[in-house]
Amino acid sequence: TAITLIGVPLEEGSGRKGCAMGPAALRIAGIHETLAELGHTVVDSGDLRPALASDLADRADAKNLQIIAGFTRDLEVRTYDVAAAGGFPLILGGDHALAMGSVSGMARHAAEVGRPLFVLWLDAHADFNSPETSPSGNIHGMPVAFFCGHAEIAGILPKDRPFVDPKRVYQVGIRSVDPIEREQIAKHGVNVFDMRSIDEQGVGAIMRHVLRTVKEANGLLHVSLDVDFLDPDLAPGVGTTVPGGATFREAHLILELLSDSGLVSSLDLVELNPFLDDRGKSARILVELAASLFGRRILDRPTLAA
Ligand code: ARG
Ligand code: MN
Ligand code: MN
Ligand code: MN
Repeated sequence: TAITLIGVPLEEGSGRKGCAMGPAALRIAGIHETLAELGHTVVDSGDLRPALASDLADRADAKNLQIIAGFTRDLEVRTYDVAAAGGFPLILGGDHALAMGSVSGMARHAAEVGRPLFVLWLDAHADFNSPETSPSGNIHGMPVAFFCGHAEIAGILPKDRPFVDPKRVYQVGIRSVDPIEREQIAKHGVNVFDMRSIDEQGVGAIMRHVLRTVKEANGLLHVSLDVDFLDPDLAPGVGTTVPGGATFREAHLILELLSDSGLVSSLDLVELNPFLDDRGKSARILVELAASLFGRRILDRPTLAA
C-alpha cells in the first residue's frame, strides 16, 4: 500500500490545548518507520498549515470556527487528492474535528468512483452534536453530524460536496452520549455498537457484521480511531477519558479483522494529547494499532528473552 501521512496539528476543536502536538508524538513513536518495515511505501507530507477561514463569522456555539474551517478545507482537498491518486491517506491528528475534512474528502472520492462510503467510528463518543445541540460548543463533538449533513455550519465546504449516509456509519465503543445527541443518532439511523454490545457480542461478531455489509455493497471504508475508544488505563493521553473502554486485545482484534478484509481506504488517528500522556504510552499504542491494520500479526513478533 502507498500510504501518505498527513499531519493535522488541530486542537481548537477540543476545548483544551495539546492535540496540536499529536502528529509530532506519532512521528516520534515511529509511525513512518513501523509501516515502512511492514513493506509499505510511506510518504510523510508534513503538517497542514491552513489559512484562517476569515470569510466565516466566529460564533459561541461552534468555537474556533475560522481555524477549524481552514483545516477542514485543506484536509478535504489533501485527503481527496491522495485517495484519487490511488493512495491511502493516514491522518495524524489533531482533535476529532478534523474528520469533517478527512471524511468529506473520502466521500467526494467515493462518489467519483461510484462506490458508497462507510465509516467505522471507534470512539467513546458519538460526536453527533450540532451547534444547536452541543452542550460545550466544541466542534470535536460534531464531525459525524457534519459529514452526514445534519450539523448546519454553513460555508465550510462548497455546497456540492457529498454527504455520508448516516445509515452507513458504524460506531463502536460508545459510552458517552448527550441527551439530544442520542435522539439525533436514533432519528438518523446511525448504527451504534456501544460498550454493552461489545461485552455481550464481542468485537469479532460486530466486525463481521460491519465488514459483510461493506463488502456486499462494494463500499469503501474509512476508519476514524479516537484515543478515548481505548480504556483510559491503556491510553491516558486524551482530554476526554471515559472509564470502561476497549481493551488492548479488543482493539487489536478489530484492526486485524479490518486488515484481513482489505476494505479500508483511509484512517484517522485522533485526539492524542501528548501533554496528558504517560511517557508516550498512548502514542505508542496508536502506532501498534496502525501496524495491525497494515498487516502486522502478534505471531510475527519475536519472543522476548527473559
Ligand atoms: N459530547 C461532548 C461534546 O459534544 C464530548 C465530545 C467529545 N468528542 C471527542 N471527539 N472527544 O462536547
Ligand atoms: Mn471523537
Ligand atoms: Mn471521543
Ligand atoms: Mn446493520
